[in-house]
Amino acid sequence: MTTRRLVLTRSAAVMGAASTGLLLPEIVRAQSGRIRVGFMLPYTGTYATLGVAIENGVRMGIDEKGGKLGGRDIDWFKIDDESEPSKGVENAQRLVQRDKVDVLIGTVHSGVQMGIHRVVREAGVLSLIPNAGVHEATRALCAPNVFRTSFTNSQPTLALGKPMFDKGVRRAVWITHKYAAGDQAFEGFRDSFTKAGGTVVKELGLPFPQVEFQALLTEIASLKPDAVACFFAGAAAVKFIRDYAAAGLKDKIPLWGSGFLTEGLLDAAGPAAEGIMTTLHYSDSLDTPRNKQFRTAFATKFKLQPDVYAVQGYDTGLLLAQGMAAVKGDSGNKQALYKALETQTIDSPRGKWSMSKAHNPIQDIYLRIAEKGENKVIGIAAKALADSGAGCKMG
Ligand code: BEZ
Repeated sequence: MTTRRLVLTRSAAVMGAASTGLLLPEIVRAQSGRIRVGFMLPYTGTYATLGVAIENGVRMGIDEKGGKLGGRDIDWFKIDDESEPSKGVENAQRLVQRDKVDVLIGTVHSGVQMGIHRVVREAGVLSLIPNAGVHEATRALCAPNVFRTSFTNSQPTLALGKPMFDKGVRRAVWITHKYAAGDQAFEGFRDSFTKAGGTVVKELGLPFPQVEFQALLTEIASLKPDAVACFFAGAAAVKFIRDYAAAGLKDKIPLWGSGFLTEGLLDAAGPAAEGIMTTLHYSDSLDTPRNKQFRTAFATKFKLQPDVYAVQGYDTGLLLAQGMAAVKGDSGNKQALYKALETQTIDSPRGKWSMSKAHNPIQDIYLRIAEKGENKVIGIAAKALADSGAGCKMG
């Protein structure tokens, strides 16, 4: 019999035995059972490396806290979501209904996240979002059981418009993959850039995961803006950076972006990435003991350099381990668990952060430049930036 079935059977017995004085030992046994944690992440396709980095980060965060959750051993479950929104609901249901996970960790792609969100809101399962920035999850559709450890899609780009304007950019073109992540990143860019005094002369895009950029690059060349700003990530970002340089635009029209553009791929992009300026809530070059210790430990453990996705995964592991420790492993006491998750401070490689009321990180956003294979920090573009959480009503 699985542990979970054992736990459920016992809780039924507990109800019947509530008046007999047998309640306490039953509850203690239920809490000491194994806990089921499901990963729903992309392990193939454009965002495959992001999924792997996140899973590594989660495991490392939990390992550093003793490898258990509130004293309970972990059973892991895994689904490759392929960054495919049309399969989002079905994949999330597999983890929730078939595998009966207590916690669902996922995902990367905003469209897929909306599928997870539908399922976990209905089932009331704890959902930890280690990347996807889709606004709705911590705005109008926020929920007590949903916590994000990453960002909202407009958080990094809300800090992008002013530094661009300050560098003399007056006319900019925006280009993106056309789905929630890119469209909501545009909102942040448009609002901050126009507020600073700039003009967005054209908004360009192509469907995810297409990477045929040529016609769009030709259009950019003919528009002759002062700069281009963009949202791309993963393998698509590598191709965009290389195609931008190959089209002869790199030295004529500076390229800026939401920092995902240069995360985890500077080696792959090579010299084409030199000089790209971005804003993000992390930088590999953050000169703090905490970041250095994390980077060394991650590189030693996985033989891979960590990036923002690894950090978000790591912070997800820390949050879960800390929250579960606070309730001594009693994940059934949802009110206490959610309160514990809401009130944690995460001592992250990105800098310490806490949760907003809508369950999204309040965090610094760094201005960075890609130089010699590193995202070098130039300054803080926004201090303790909280998403608006517009329309979020808990309860
Ligand atoms: C998203 O779809 O939300 C997303 C994907 C990759 C990087 C950042 C955001």
